[in-house]
Amino acid sequence: MNEKQRIESQKVVAGNPTDKKSAKDFSKYFESVYIPPSLKDAKKRGKEEVNYHNDFHISEEFQGLGNNKKFYIRTYGCQMNEHDTEVMAGIFLGLGYEPTDTVNDADVILLNTCAIRENAENKVFGELGHLKTLKKHRPNLLIGVCGCMSQEESVVNKILKTYNQVDMIFGTHNIHRLPNILKEAYMSKEMVVEVWSKEGDVIENLPKVRKGEIKAWVNIMYGCDKFCTYCIVPYTRGKERSRRPEDIIQEVRHLAAQDYQEITLLGQNVNAYGKDFEDMTYGLGDLMDEIRKIDIPRIRFTTSHPRDFDDRLIEVLGKGGNLLDHIHLPVQSGSSEVLKMMARKYDRERYLELVGKIKAAMPNASLTTDIIVGFPNETEEQFEETLSLYREVEFDTAYTFIYSPREGTPAAKMVDNVPLEVKKERLQRLNALVNEISAKKLKEYEGQVVEVLVEGESKKNPDVLAGYTEKSKLVNFRGPKSVIGKLIKVKVTKAKTWTLDGELVEEALEV
Ligand code: 5AD
Ligand code: SF4
Repeated sequence: MNEKQRIESQKVVAGNPTDKKSAKDFSKYFESVYIPPSLKDAKKRGKEEVNYHNDFHISEEFQGLGNNKKFYIRTYGCQMNEHDTEVMAGIFLGLGYEPTDTVNDADVILLNTCAIRENAENKVFGELGHLKTLKKHRPNLLIGVCGCMSQEESVVNKILKTYNQVDMIFGTHNIHRLPNILKEAYMSKEMVVEVWSKEGDVIENLPKVRKGEIKAWVNIMYGCDKFCTYCIVPYTRGKERSRRPEDIIQEVRHLAAQDYQEITLLGQNVNAYGKDFEDMTYGLGDLMDEIRKIDIPRIRFTTSHPRDFDDRLIEVLGKGGNLLDHIHLPVQSGSSEVLKMMARKYDRERYLELVGKIKAAMPNASLTTDIIVGFPNETEEQFEETLSLYREVEFDTAYTFIYSPREGTPAAKMVDNVPLEVKKERLQRLNALVNEISAKKLKEYEGQVVEVLVEGESKKNPDVLAGYTEKSKLVNFRGPKSVIGKLIKVKVTKAKTWTLDGELVEEALEV
């Protein structure tokens, strides 16, 4: 099948069910041709070839599509989604649209969605409900749903049946097809569904409108092959595929030339970077070793999987310099039995061993983590192992979640004997510990001089400036606006619950 045939075979242009006559045609048509995005297919992940495309451009037929029109994108979920939004914004600008920050002004509204937990999905359905009224008043408005939720067949079915205010649904593999999807939505006035349940390609040369001029995200890989039993991401984001190092390095060099001060290398499982290359042995450590030589003061990466975090990476991180020693290392649980049920492919001992290695190579390293409480059948003892691991590692902070069953994942089929009340109570106990240790760690900063990348005025008080330390601590201080976008020294005067107050160190003004 060639590219065009494949697109045709996986695409549906369905009659808009708002129109009574076409509603019948629609359901007939839908049943005969619609191939839903399939979790089953995603699980049969094989050795399919990853196609690299270097030729993205907006073809002439789409030029001017957005003239005199405005777009609005609302982003839910993780940094990967935020970055996808930057790419879509770039495409919109290329089509002649202008950005707007209110839905009331917009001619096209996109919801870039997250599927990770049920409450993330509920927010999107709630928002679609609100947009229905807007669409009633302005029938020419286009509403689109993209991102992770649109890769789930149950969500696509629900939207097709219930949310007929939606004009376009497209998946995470189809972002580069935005011009075609928009054009189709305008031409046919019908609901356009373009979701590929394929493994995904790597598309270079995509335009981007970066949200800031100080910090930037750089994708290094896409997808995830880990299949942790609770997680929907391997199904919504396709298989692990890495960008070629030369493309990444070129992008980072370009950002350095534009005076960006901090970059974050992004991927769902960055430690698996390069594992899919057939022509060379090259991993995240090798990539970081090249990137650290580029003149950008701060380099971070996220998100790590402990299983793939190898010695080469630790060795390179130990070289320090612009490679920051703040590592986000999701542990999920402190119990080896629960980790086994989660299919995390490491146990408590291996995790602690890894933490030991990281701390040996980077004595001042700070670690943060993600934790799920209330995994099916988690016992009180197993939960207490999570608390004890947390105390032992002394994470700087953690993102904590109650387990949320995701349809199609193995864990969703497990019978669960833990009542919701117990899960909530465990989350509270864990959060109390997280807060206790975070507060203790913040207190240690009092009196210290830290380096802060100044991002701008504080959200609460325009007379105060705000920025982040290497370890991602938010610092508020008074100073001239001329230091915005710079790295400066600040003396911490007081630790608050979540943030630090400080004062500018005199010589910082000379920068
Ligand atoms: N339920 C609760 N939390 C989840 N996460 C991923 N899947 C689920 C789920 N089904 C959490 C994990 C992951 C973070 C991004 O979200 O902790 O690291
Ligand atoms: Fe990001 Fe995962 Fe949420 Fe998708 S499901 S937006 S990849 S956190």
